[in-house]
Amino acid sequence: MQQSLITDLLKIRYPIIGGAMYPCSNPELVAAVSAAGGIGVVQPISLTYVNKYDFRKGLQYIRTLTPNPIGLNLLIEKSSQKYLEKNKEWLEIALEEGVRFFITALGNPDWVVKRVEKEGGIVFHDVTTKEWAKKAIGGGVNGLICVNSRAGGHAGDEKPQDLFRDLKDFNVPLVCAGGIGDRKAYESALTLGYSGVQIGTRFIASKECTAHEDYKAAILKAEEDDIVLTKKITGVPVAVINTGYMKVRGSETGVVSKFFLEHPKTKHYARMFFSLRSVWQLKQSWGKGGDYKEFYQAGKSVSGIKSIQPVGEIISSWVK
Ligand SMILES: Cc1cc2nc3c(=O)[nH]c(=O)nc-3n(C[C@H](O)[C@H](O)[C@H](O)COP(=O)(O)O)c2cc1C
Repeated sequence: MQQSLITDLLKIRYPIIGGAMYPCSNPELVAAVSAAGGIGVVQPISLTYVNKYDFRKGLQYIRTLTPNPIGLNLLIEKSSQKYLEKNKEWLEIALEEGVRFFITALGNPDWVVKRVEKEGGIVFHDVTTKEWAKKAIGGGVNGLICVNSRAGGHAGDEKPQDLFRDLKDFNVPLVCAGGIGDRKAYESALTLGYSGVQIGTRFIASKECTAHEDYKAAILKAEEDDIVLTKKITGVPVAVINTGYMKVRGSETGVVSKFFLEHPKTKHYARMFFSLRSVWQLKQSWGKGGDYKEFYQAGKSVSGIKSIQPVGEIISSWVK
């Protein structure tokens, strides 16, 4: 049976979330999704490091582009106290600026839920398995972003239909994240029973996204089989287009990195190292080609993406 859509809960017109994307979530893209009747989600590292906004001013800038609700993504893994503190600061500023929708990923979202519910806000958590979903529900979240094996970014292992079957008994809104690049995929996610969808890759190939034109062209050209998983960006598998560069460089980390990434005592630090290194390399090269050109993150939805369009056109062609 179809669960009710997330539109009432989030006060939006269509059940479409513009997923946070490091480094692709520029403020104009976030605003365009909200302006079109979905809800755009801010990725704070993209806003501050990549797009160089002071966090509060960045949110205020988005407000000048659309009055509609926006969300904020918080990666709340506890491996770095400093990063956790930064997340707390971003959360407070976002609440002050009127943001009432949060998508947490990694870690235990209980402290975010406790803080956000005081302001009447909503928290959804990214999950890939029933086990993680159970923990998130225990933390009090209002809904789950169900990241499947077709997703861009850190993909899950399960197919959309299997993940829905595993999680439906939690009786919270389930959002399908992964593999939605065209109207057919959008409709089939809702037909499966999902309460909404979260989109990443399709919105990179949009007019408003400031990613390099070569990146967008690679998305249009790629087919499903061109998507491979690499551990070279953050130490955990990330979906990328298998470009000539990827084929030469390979997708596995070296033996030493693998040891640190898998050892229980060092894995958090190793992941943090890979993530921070990717932020640092990107700061050097965003918009100039370089490292960013080497990794085109994208999910299997590439096969349904045929043109670069304004976000408003994409959304209206799916919902009409
Ligand atoms: C380039 C890229 C970067 C992403 N970065 C993040 C991120 O920083 N935080 C997050 O929660 N999800 C991130 N995601 C996941 C998206 O928010 C979304 O769940 C996913 O892209 C959905 O799959 P799709 O690409 O097939 O639409 C990223 C996805 C992509 C493609």
